[in-house]
Amino acid sequence: MRRKDVLDLDDFSAAELTEVLDTTVAMKEVLARPIRRVPPLRGKTIVNCFYEASTRTRVSFELAAKNLSADVINISASGSSVEKGETLVDTTRTLQALGADMVIIRHSASGAPYLVARELDASVINAGDGWHAHPTQGLLDLFTVREKLGSLEGRKIVIVGDVLHSRVARSDVWGFATMGAEVVLCGPPTLMPVGIETAAAEGLHRKNGNGAHKEHAAVRVQYDLDKAIEGADVVMALRIQKERMDAGMFPSLREYARLWGVNRERVARAKFGALVMHPGPMNEGIEIAPDVAYGVQSVIESQVTNGVAVRMALLYLLAGGQGGRVV
Ligand code: CP
Repeated sequence: MRRKDVLDLDDFSAAELTEVLDTTVAMKEVLARPIRRVPPLRGKTIVNCFYEASTRTRVSFELAAKNLSADVINISASGSSVEKGETLVDTTRTLQALGADMVIIRHSASGAPYLVARELDASVINAGDGWHAHPTQGLLDLFTVREKLGSLEGRKIVIVGDVLHSRVARSDVWGFATMGAEVVLCGPPTLMPVGIETAAAEGLHRKNGNGAHKEHAAVRVQYDLDKAIEGADVVMALRIQKERMDAGMFPSLREYARLWGVNRERVARAKFGALVMHPGPMNEGIEIAPDVAYGVQSVIESQVTNGVAVRMALLYLLAGGQGGRVV
């Protein structure tokens, strides 16, 4: 992998995404062994810098790094010199001076990992920045769909809910569209980014080595969930992010569940055998009904489990490992 950092999926080609997904298959084989530890990152130090709450991402990065024999340090804002007013750049420079080879950062400010990546020689991985991006969640979502359905090209992926505040949705759009899937974004108009319909109609602006260029990826916006869900291969519910929301974005949680909740009747409108996904943590009974979240079509637990293998693959490739090979 010829990159220092992983900040979003908007600069990943289909070939690069495929390399990560193929290497994840190899990592799953490692995780199925009686001893799940392999040596490629021996002698490397990885620092998990989580300035915002996390269970899945933080734990899976820690497990991934340990499974690859790296030394792992976990820091959070509380208990670090951030409490004394140290800046993000100074903190991460200090971590690099202490020997960090890779810094994994989650931050409430969109763009924070970009600032850190510009300042450090160490690799930086974005573990979620504000409303902006969550590339490793995007990768594990791609992997889970490819693993369960066998392919991504031409699949209809319906992402429903609080798109406005969702860094998962933003990274998923890039990932699925790059792999040739059709993405349908659905939710209340008040929880859609301003100008999304125009942007979807115009296509995605991708940055690569030659500067920005436009791609006409298949992204659509639909406000009626019952219509959007017809023929879907995947239905992904997003968490209502109450902590990032002003009052009055929708009438009530009950009304939200009635209009935008993923329930059994709605899933029945999707393709036979469609997958139900959620990045977690879930507000059960609001954006997703409990019987759907834990039903036969749900792959929500697989998403969590695959997070370890996907992050192992990414750490391995960033450290210079050969793609697609069993370690
Ligand atoms: N999906 C996700 O990012 O979960 P956590 O906040 O628990 O890491």
